[in-house]
Amino acid sequence: MLATPAPVSLASALLPAQGWKSSRSLLWRGKRRTCSRKGNSSLIIAKFELKPPPYPLSALEPHMSRETLEYHWGKHHRGYVDNLNRQIVGTELDGMTLEDIITITYNKGDLLPAFNNAAQVWNHTSFWESMKPGGGGEPSGDLLELIKRDFGSFERFVEEFKLAASTQFGSGWAWLAYKANRLDVGNAVNPRPSEEDKKLVVVKSPNAINPLLWDCNPLLTIDVWEHAYYLDFQNHRPDYISIFMEKLVSWEAVSSRLEMAKAQVANREREEERRKRAEEEEQMPYSEAVKMYLESDGDGDDSEAE
Ligand SMILES: [Fe+2]
Repeated sequence: MLATPAPVSLASALLPAQGWKSSRSLLWRGKRRTCSRKGNSSLIIAKFELKPPPYPLSALEPHMSRETLEYHWGKHHRGYVDNLNRQIVGTELDGMTLEDIITITYNKGDLLPAFNNAAQVWNHTSFWESMKPGGGGEPSGDLLELIKRDFGSFERFVEEFKLAASTQFGSGWAWLAYKANRLDVGNAVNPRPSEEDKKLVVVKSPNAINPLLWDCNPLLTIDVWEHAYYLDFQNHRPDYISIFMEKLVSWEAVSSRLEMAKAQVANREREEERRKRAEEEEQMPYSEAVKMYLESDGDGDDSEAE
């Protein structure tokens, strides 16, 4: 499902362990973009901050302990933020959105050094906001209708989500995502998109990978790295997943993300339509000029040239 890695490794040119401070060396250079240390790095401060969960650290008890939140958010998530800021400060990644950094450093599967920290910052924020005290139950409204349409029933969706989360080998994530492109080949663009192409999907991803890289809008996620559940559930990942679905999921957050995803996709489609029209209009004067030239060629009437 991942895009094919770039044939030539770019990572080897990155973040040289030596000579880093003494030169304005290139961090990486691709076909379309370059990334370099900026000339006056003293003016640049990487800005990503550790965003707290939208509830107190003890608010998910007894299902997820304060101790787990203290370690998971307070140490692991904080570590990703701090490491990312150290990696990008003074580079051209500094000042970009987190989403852009994730996309650029994914580098078609040949990961650049900042990718794992950037993606883990995004993933963890999404995870905290996927839960709420007193969560669980069933969604409603458009979200429930789409779940029924695309999975058959809410119960079948839950089964599929649990299966994805429990079978992700090693560290990773499981997701419910809004997919506006039915093609299942990396980031390929559907040449003939239709309303039916837009659907909900369940996917799992290893390590820090997330569905943004597959042109999907993540709506719900569960962290299945061991650090997410070991203090509360030891090695019983399926129990952790069940509690997450039954007691912690914030369907309000998922519904809100769905609406944002729909709006984002609609904006993108309008923008693509505008771009197509602009390209057609750019071509038109040339076509008309050629037609006029061919029609007037050799007729001996030079009045057109005046
Ligand atoms: Fe985690």
